[in-house]
Amino acid sequence: MTGADLQPGHVSPGAQPYPPSRLHGRKRGRHLRAGGQNALENELPEYAAPLAGAAAPFGLFSAAIRELWLEIGFGDGAHLAWRAAAHPDIGFIGCEVFANGVVRLLRSIKEQGLQNIRIHNGDARILLSALPDACLSRVFVLFPDPWPKLRHHKRRLMQAETASALARVMRTGAELRFVSDHAGYFADCLATFQAHPGFVLLPQTPRDWPVTRYERKALSAGRAPHYLRAARL
Ligand SMILES: C[S@@+](CC[C@H](N)C(=O)[O-])C[C@H]1O[C@@H](n2cnc3c(N)ncnc32)[C@H](O)[C@@H]1O
Repeated sequence: MTGADLQPGHVSPGAQPYPPSRLHGRKRGRHLRAGGQNALENELPEYAAPLAGAAAPFGLFSAAIRELWLEIGFGDGAHLAWRAAAHPDIGFIGCEVFANGVVRLLRSIKEQGLQNIRIHNGDARILLSALPDACLSRVFVLFPDPWPKLRHHKRRLMQAETASALARVMRTGAELRFVSDHAGYFADCLATFQAHPGFVLLPQTPRDWPVTRYERKALSAGRAPHYLRAARL
């Protein structure tokens, strides 16, 4: 994220000002090789979702798209690439702060020839505040960092403020899918969306996507994932 990305001028008229507090962990792993650095410098610009373009997000894509879907914290991008390949007529924006994950997604985009993904390599809340009202039809938040210690709960992404930010940018009927293997985080998130006037909880459907990296970790450690679906009213 650059200083320019943080300018309040990018905030959409109906949005809260961009959040000053840091929620996320590392932005870059120890093992970002020269190839990865090269991908960030030379390939990312072609697939980036710059904040300046977020005010008209359908225009970020070279071909016409039917709907716009968002994934927050895409990790290695396996779920995002899988969705984008399955829905070539949908435009996807993926947010991820961790540069190594962005490099992995860029590799998948190239290998699979995907044209319908744009990447925000930064804090999802900043992108949310730059998007216009009612532009998203689906949002995925899969295994966000649980910040299990009580004193770190304020760093959790899914809180009332983010629920309100999502309510602004999701169109009526748009669906949010949230998954966590942390029972306490899940319970808090469920209560947040249950209480929020902009959302109604939906019945669960079976998981319809390949197991993600963090889901695999959770399952092998014996932690059960909890699934939440909510629709924008
Ligand atoms: C536990 S990992 C889950 C990754 C992936 N969804 C999966 O299931 O394998 C959470 C990811 O969210 C990213 N993240 C955390 N806070 C974020 C934020 N505010 N905006 C964007 N990404 C964020 C982290 O860098 C990390 O890659």
